[in-house]
Amino acid sequence: MAEPIRFRAVAPGRVNLIGDHTDYMGGLALPMAINLVTTITGVRTGSTIELHSEQVEQALHVVLPVSEPQLTTPAWGRYVAGVAAELASTRGIVGKVTSTIPLGSGLSSSAALEVATALALGDSASSVEIALRCQRAEQLASGVPCGIMDQLAITSGRSGHAMLIDFADLHVTPVAIPDSAQFWVIHSGQERQLVSSAYSERRTQAEAAAAILGPLPQADLSSINVLTDAVLRARARHVNTECARVQQFAVALENCELVLCGELMAQSHASLRDDYEVSTEALNSLVNSLAATPGVYGARLTGAGFGGCVVALADPELQLDGWRVVPSDGARLELLAD
Ligand code: GLA
Repeated sequence: MAEPIRFRAVAPGRVNLIGDHTDYMGGLALPMAINLVTTITGVRTGSTIELHSEQVEQALHVVLPVSEPQLTTPAWGRYVAGVAAELASTRGIVGKVTSTIPLGSGLSSSAALEVATALALGDSASSVEIALRCQRAEQLASGVPCGIMDQLAITSGRSGHAMLIDFADLHVTPVAIPDSAQFWVIHSGQERQLVSSAYSERRTQAEAAAAILGPLPQADLSSINVLTDAVLRARARHVNTECARVQQFAVALENCELVLCGELMAQSHASLRDDYEVSTEALNSLVNSLAATPGVYGARLTGAGFGGCVVALADPELQLDGWRVVPSDGARLELLAD
């Protein structure tokens, strides 16, 4: 009989530098994979998934094939079971999960777990295919109609680069990050709240605006500004102007124009706060105090909003009270010898 395959599947978290609530509207974003990772180490064997984790108490036991991943307990196992369901896996794994990604902070710990699971279960498709499967798994597991940014940033990351993603065709262009640009992720102290219901509502509103105007990233600002519904007008304006900022930011970053990058981050935060209404008092006051800190070029909320983290661009000498994040390679599978 063949020896069971031993593996280590490593998937990074991500931080989005600019371009939030654009992915599910076919827009642009500029996330980067970071140096905080989730790792599954184990063997491929049997017909169940058996995982334990040092971070969470309850171990996971899932019988394959999986049909209703959203019913899995403990709840963290839903992301694992969702991927197994997407892959229609019948060959199991036994192992352990470790992670340096803080849970529930907006650094995509769940997407990292999904991608690590896909690799652990033997998915060897392209980075886009794996990301699509993991996005569906996330939607199944969480009930949130999320976009594909987190999963695609994690599968396609490249050391030293952010990834400019065009969600119209899922094309990814690496953008070199200069050494003089240091990114920090800082927690607002506020746990993310209402993310699932408010996220769905924002998505529905943006889609309603697009049903009138056509694709929002390409819409004309003058036609957005004459939309009669004030809420749809504001949602559309955010998606449209945010995509333009992503393009400008990517060019400015490559050219090391960090003051301009900081200004674009401030504009992005204001748009997410005022037009998309996904910010909170805690996020706003953290962004304001960072903006007033010497050596910080700019800061903005990152990810879905409603609490969680901000991302700041700063001089490399500056020390902030958060995670200094380094642009890193995407997810990988290592096959281990005995
Ligand atoms: C969450 C979702 C992503 C994206 C961001 C907002 O992280 O999972 O798909 O929509 O929010 O940009």
